[in-house]
Amino acid sequence: MNALLNWDIPFDRMERLDLSGMEVQAVEKEGVRAWRLLFTQRPRDRAKAGPAVQGARPLPMEATEGLYRAEGLPPLALGEGRVRFGGLTLSLWGLPHLEALPLLRLLSDGVPYPLLALRFPLGAAHYYGLGERTGGLARRGGRFWNFTMDQPPRPGRDPLYLASPLLVRLEGDEALGFLLDESHPSLFDLGHAHPAEGRVAVASPHLDFYVLAGSLLEVVRGLTLLTGRPAMPPLWALGYHQCRYSYADSQAVREVVEAFKAHDLPLEAVWLDIHHMEGYKVFTLSPHRFPDFRALSEELAGEGVRLVPIVDPGVKVEEGYRVFEEGKRRGVFLLDDRDELLVGGVWPRRAVWPDFSREGPRAFWAEEVRRFAEENGFAGIWNDMNEPAVLELGGAESPDKALPLTARQGEKSHLEARNLYALGMAEATYQGLAALGRRPFILTRSGFPGIQRYAFVWTGDNESRHEDMALSVPMLLSLGLSGVPFAGADVGGFGQDATPELLLRWTWLGALYPFFRNHSALGTRRQEPYAFGEPWTSRMREALRFRYRLLPYLYSLAREAHEEGLPLWRPLFAYWPGEMAAFREDEFLLGEGLLAAPLLHQGEGVREVYLPPGTWWDFWAGCRVAGPALEQALGPLPLYLKEGAAIPLTEPTYPTRTARWPRLGFRVALGPAIRGRVYEDEGEGFAPGAWSELKGAFDGKRLVLAFEDRSGHPREGVWAEVLGVAPPVKGQGVLYREGRLLLDLGPGEAFAEWA
Ligand code: GLC
Repeated sequence: MNALLNWDIPFDRMERLDLSGMEVQAVEKEGVRAWRLLFTQRPRDRAKAGPAVQGARPLPMEATEGLYRAEGLPPLALGEGRVRFGGLTLSLWGLPHLEALPLLRLLSDGVPYPLLALRFPLGAAHYYGLGERTGGLARRGGRFWNFTMDQPPRPGRDPLYLASPLLVRLEGDEALGFLLDESHPSLFDLGHAHPAEGRVAVASPHLDFYVLAGSLLEVVRGLTLLTGRPAMPPLWALGYHQCRYSYADSQAVREVVEAFKAHDLPLEAVWLDIHHMEGYKVFTLSPHRFPDFRALSEELAGEGVRLVPIVDPGVKVEEGYRVFEEGKRRGVFLLDDRDELLVGGVWPRRAVWPDFSREGPRAFWAEEVRRFAEENGFAGIWNDMNEPAVLELGGAESPDKALPLTARQGEKSHLEARNLYALGMAEATYQGLAALGRRPFILTRSGFPGIQRYAFVWTGDNESRHEDMALSVPMLLSLGLSGVPFAGADVGGFGQDATPELLLRWTWLGALYPFFRNHSALGTRRQEPYAFGEPWTSRMREALRFRYRLLPYLYSLAREAHEEGLPLWRPLFAYWPGEMAAFREDEFLLGEGLLAAPLLHQGEGVREVYLPPGTWWDFWAGCRVAGPALEQALGPLPLYLKEGAAIPLTEPTYPTRTARWPRLGFRVALGPAIRGRVYEDEGEGFAPGAWSELKGAFDGKRLVLAFEDRSGHPREGVWAEVLGVAPPVKGQGVLYREGRLLLDLGPGEAFAEWA
């Protein structure tokens, strides 16, 4: 364990601080309003901005006797040493300089309190968020660090790769969002040290935080938009991705692409892990293993298959290696506390790390990315080991795989800037890819709030076990509640050997992941969807094709994430906070209308499905179900439509081209009011697209559906398929066949009537 994380934070030696040094501001960004509270001890920190929240503007406010009011915000009270907002009451504490631990003293620059903390009664509330964590979705009772580490998601481990000092509190149907906008390492103790008290400690001379209120999803939306709109992905990013550590040469890549084609399996991109490089030098390609790279890349492009290479931050120390030489000349690399190049070992035994906290190194990196992607036709970039992870320091194993926290990053120490490393790297990579005029696509392992502005996140080195598959559900839900809507886990599991049963279930679950990539480690059994032969290949194909059928819906949800900051995956309690049984993590909603109840456990033949109040329709069987339902194994993943939901689907075609669906079909669950919408555009680039809307009503006898098509492109057909109804007696644009009611929405409107 890192010296820092070994601390038992000495809460009992901290002093209670009065709040006279606390500045209160009402702020607005992207229509979101929040209170910002900033406690500083040095005059220069008063102008502090970010790192996660940038571009929030101050709102007019009134303050009388400690009561702060601003339009559109619940009031905030400051007095008697406490901040009160909604149901939250916070007090501020500090560890005096003289008491501070050696590392803090070293970095504290003489501030009176180098360690600051907030304490608050936990009350009867639930707590969520904090990004990527193991151990479930509910955070109460736990202790969580924000310190990026190369640590695979195993039970009980904390922290993992990504830091997220962002918390959601839910009491009844009222939620409160809390964002600690400090990159310094922090700890959220939510009833671990004391069952009734929450404690947030940060090893920093300042404490900057935001609070906002609303329903759970309003708060999530607010926290996401405050830290930055999720980037709109290109359509292909939502398709199926195949990766392995490693497809090590041209031959291996061709074989994979050919096998997908031969088995009629959709494939959007093949990923190149570290063996594509020459001697682990980033931005190079091995001339031995990929002698004909351009030809390969062009050939694949002709088939609609893209290539995504891994780009790690560690730059090999080697004379004559351009990236190293040029980077050194331009002073882009991290320095140690004696101002010398900081050298450590990662895949290359001797490497240096760009300092992404500074503009110069980011511009340098962006240029490398642009050149590398352009010359080789890469469609996106995969950033790994960006915590940053270091395997060796000074010839010995590096403790916690971290660089020394005293390392210098411009004016900052690595202690302060470490959590932001991946964010800076993603920003640079994004700029490099955007210079090519396409919508950038980046996948990252590490991150900090704001990472969604640039990248998708994957949850790192899981294993081929049912437990790891089950864990991915709360992990992805939590990332979504923490402002990262685009995330996935390695389908099939990274470490260990997959079995066909596990891979099939995981592939069905993956078909609903916001990011769908199968990846496995060196030396493990092959786990491409065709690896186990029949009958498995055909069953995997069913799952993969379902993903492609669902693309209009997924792409529309992606747009919603981009416009409104809402996650694609939502916990049931986001809509039913009053239902005890909705507080579960073995089911989730994709958007608002589609409930998924995956079978997650080994040997599980059937499972019980909880359905929240209201009417639900079995997505596959088309019939109405009243919960609890019972579902069977190894078929398609159990899915349910909420009454009134209309999900846009298309016929699976692959590889993807544009996000315009000439053949569009809404799957509709009857309800008094029916709503569905679909977002369409080029699927690439920056030209604006359009939302088209389906609206309808059903009064028990008559169903009317109207489709407002704003896409401006020709269609071969727009249909609504209404689940589980008897043949109507009358209608317009109506077709009833084999228990299925189809309404032709081509003319814009259709109706059906029953006696
Ligand atoms: C790390 C990544 C993994 C990758 C491997 C080799 O373990 O998490 O996805 O395959 O490094 O690059």
